[in-house]
Amino acid sequence: MKPTEKIWMNGEFVAWKDAQVHVLAHALNYGTGIFEGLRVYPNSDGKAIFRLKDHMKRFMEGAKVMAFDMPYSQEELCEAVKETVRVNGEVDYLKPCAFLGGEWVGLNPIGVPVTVTITAIHMGSYLGKEIQEQGAKIATSSWKRPWNMAAPAGAKVNGIYVTSCLAKMEAVKQGANEALMLNAQGNVAECSGENIFILKRGKLYTPKTTDSILEGITRNSIMQLARDMGYEMIESEVSRLEAYTADEVFMTGTAAEITPVTMIDHRPIGDGVPGKVTRQLQQAFHDVVTGRDERYADWLDHV
Ligand SMILES: Cc1ncc(COP(=O)(O)O)c(C=O)c1O
Repeated sequence: MKPTEKIWMNGEFVAWKDAQVHVLAHALNYGTGIFEGLRVYPNSDGKAIFRLKDHMKRFMEGAKVMAFDMPYSQEELCEAVKETVRVNGEVDYLKPCAFLGGEWVGLNPIGVPVTVTITAIHMGSYLGKEIQEQGAKIATSSWKRPWNMAAPAGAKVNGIYVTSCLAKMEAVKQGANEALMLNAQGNVAECSGENIFILKRGKLYTPKTTDSILEGITRNSIMQLARDMGYEMIESEVSRLEAYTADEVFMTGTAAEITPVTMIDHRPIGDGVPGKVTRQLQQAFHDVVTGRDERYADWLDHV
């Protein structure tokens, strides 16, 4: 990855190469961290961060789940995120992290100091421009989405992402672009880093927040956009069979934005090309994030 200028680390900016932790950092050994991912979009006034407050609220909630003693408030972190964009110039993605550092061995996280960082990068298209335009092939993973009895699946906790990494690797090795993850009940949960929507008989469905998903901010935005466009939008259990036989399927996420799914487990979705509603929502989302749709202006924080 091409380094950017500065990383915000515990309240000050340090050079990319100086943002280091010890090999015994608790998070490195036991996964005790949380993170966020945000996008910055160009618009007519310069640049804006999409749903900054909502992302940093989820970040603070993740810290609460992990019982971190956070040294910064949500407001201070929002300001630090904006400053990280200003300092680094041409960036399109931000990754705030809070994790346990320290230099000792042992599972007990109590008293281990929290390190907070904000890194800005140039990501471009996460799954690749062609996939975002032409559609993704996804494959059902043998790895199940962690459920709430075993892990805080609704928070962006570092350790939980081992399952997502394994699922993604499995999918890619099988020639797919992304993994479809089922939950403990065998229903569709989400992808390795994206939520999933299906269109069936003119109605949109997405798994419920209790179906072991991360409650995505893009998911929430698309639900609102779809309803405002007049679609019936239902949060419900989605079976694998319903996904196979859907008219359209798409994924949502900060990194992947809105990406059509054209194939699941070698079965074409609809006609095997991105669907009309998916295209409509992709365009509507693009208009919102680039500030062309005044109705959603308060989702943008100008830098
Ligand atoms: C597991 C998982 N699901 C869904 C999403 C999509 O969430 P959001 O739209 O908030 O980026 C992400 C990305 O953060 C994720 O990691």
